[in-house]
Amino acid sequence: MSTYYITTPIYYVNDKPHIGHAYTTILADVLARYHRELGDEVFFLTGLDEHGQKVQQAAEARGVGSQQHCDEMAPRFLELWDKLGISYDDFIRTTEDRHKTIVQQVLQAVYDSGDIYKGEYEGWYSVSEERFISDKERETGEFRDVRKIKEPNYYFKMGKYQEQLVQYIHDHPEFILPPHRRNEILGKLREPIDDLCISRPKSRLEWGVEIPFDTDYVTYVWFDALLNYVSAPGYGSNEETFGKWWPADVHLIGKDILMTHAIYWPTMLFSAGIPLPKCIFAHGWWLTEKDDGEAEKMSKSLGNVVNPLDLIDQYGVDPVRYYLMREMVLGQDSNFSLSSFIKRYNSDLANDLGNLVSRVNRLITRNFDGKLPRAGEEEKSDAALRNTGESIGAIVAGKIEEMKVNEAVETTIEFVRSINIYLEQHKPWMLLKTEEGPGKARAGTVLFYAAEAVRLALQLLHPIMPDKVRELLGMVGDHNPDFTTAAWGRLKSGVGLNEFTAPFPRIEVERDSTPREKKEPKLEKEEPKVSDNLISYDDFIKVDLKIAEIIGAEKIEKADKLLKLQVKVGDEQRQIVAGLAGHYTLEELPGKKIVIVANLAPAKIRGVESQGMLLAADDGETLSLLSLDRDITSGAKVR
Ligand code: MSP
Repeated sequence: MSTYYITTPIYYVNDKPHIGHAYTTILADVLARYHRELGDEVFFLTGLDEHGQKVQQAAEARGVGSQQHCDEMAPRFLELWDKLGISYDDFIRTTEDRHKTIVQQVLQAVYDSGDIYKGEYEGWYSVSEERFISDKERETGEFRDVRKIKEPNYYFKMGKYQEQLVQYIHDHPEFILPPHRRNEILGKLREPIDDLCISRPKSRLEWGVEIPFDTDYVTYVWFDALLNYVSAPGYGSNEETFGKWWPADVHLIGKDILMTHAIYWPTMLFSAGIPLPKCIFAHGWWLTEKDDGEAEKMSKSLGNVVNPLDLIDQYGVDPVRYYLMREMVLGQDSNFSLSSFIKRYNSDLANDLGNLVSRVNRLITRNFDGKLPRAGEEEKSDAALRNTGESIGAIVAGKIEEMKVNEAVETTIEFVRSINIYLEQHKPWMLLKTEEGPGKARAGTVLFYAAEAVRLALQLLHPIMPDKVRELLGMVGDHNPDFTTAAWGRLKSGVGLNEFTAPFPRIEVERDSTPREKKEPKLEKEEPKVSDNLISYDDFIKVDLKIAEIIGAEKIEKADKLLKLQVKVGDEQRQIVAGLAGHYTLEELPGKKIVIVANLAPAKIRGVESQGMLLAADDGETLSLLSLDRDITSGAKVR
């Protein structure tokens, strides 16, 4: 029997669970269920990341102890997983002793091997990310709550393992997936990586795992959190279970935490002498559509998160699971919107699947005493349906193995559609009008084949919609489904069908109301605070920064500092007047890709129209155009 060990990230206990957390966890659940149904022995791990500055600050703000704060926050995740039908095998919290002991054990081992040293550090620290950031990162402006910190700390010799890691990634093409994420990491590893600061002085932060060789310090949250993947299956405490599960088959993560998983984690494992996980798979983000139609990430700090509980309460768990799995191409970003949810629900679930089961069930119930009819002689089109049914399981399984869950669902729904077409072709309802005799017998055969095909399709959808599938299976005569056999030929003639109850009632969108306002799940809006010398995020995003390619440059008469540039912004050509003369020659400008403000009202400068403005840095002596560190198409947005 094969084993399959899958993990989700452990979520920050402070966060309010949202659709992004729900997505990763449902995806892991679908893969875990799928492997169980294949007959694999599965260990599905999820949990909570409970240490760090944010937790300590939140607890202080509430006037409670950090542990109490965590204990009070943790159930929100457990309740959501319960509601979402998440079949996890273990739920780890980093404040548990079984985890803390292992963190200390690994730290001590890494220290003893000489891979940890003490040094002074001065740098920018992002409290929201819980890590030191480089000057370059700070300049991106993407980090909030950044402060300068100088302190003695312990360092892990991460740089020492850089070459080994690069070699490992080359030798194991499946280690980081999808491939574009592997390339991203290899790109980062082309530059030298710094050693990793892995401690925090207790004077600044108390809420962490104490460093075993210096009790004035606690462990940096990421060094602590990543180790959950080995502490839960029994590293250092139970050799047998650890040997059984490790290395993990897949760490499922969002693209936002790729660097910590694909650089910090493997180098930590190299140092501790633990084998690396087989695969780190990074999925994309769920984005929401803003009022102007642009997509933006869902995040707590932007205040635009969709609360999965609202959706579940309104439409049920399984449709939400279905939508999230069907809609996101694994590895890419996806837009979440209520209208696409309703569209998908109505077309796939209410129309294609719901109507099919309803038709088969009603025709059998009304015409065959509610019992599955006997299948007569197989005709060509029956054989065609059976043949598809016999091969569909392997096709869907192949897609899941390749982490193409959305395609697996799509293939299954196409099969459902082909069953509808089969019914339309044979019209058993017309055959039944002939009363007893050959017409009814043929209708019986057609309905039996249709029921068996639906049964198969349902079986393939079981990891995605476990509850609804059980309900629907009873309506086509499968009362004790055995999910480990997806093969054709399970249903038995003469078995009674459960009564039909519409499992996916159509969602009607009222025409004369504005469904968006009425039905859009609540967004957790928190107004960002803006002080005197700061602008709000909303102000900042009004500036439309874009990449432009310079295609021509000319002097402007009687204006010795100005140049007239022609630039390409996507398909559009514009003219921009800029004070570049004396800093750049006319020849060196064409071909350069620069950043422009694309939504600046046009103005005449020395009588020449300028449609936008370019960005350049100026220290009084040198003027330098803002350009790119890797190529990107003109017209791309700068955020
Ligand atoms: N605690 C760290 C992870 C430590 S793992 C050793 C952390 N936690 S988190 O609460 O911020 O959760 C991050 C994960 O939530 C992401 O990697 C991703 O799996 C999921 N998502 C959060 N927002 C998301 C979207 N908008 N869309 C999709 N998934 C996202 O980082």
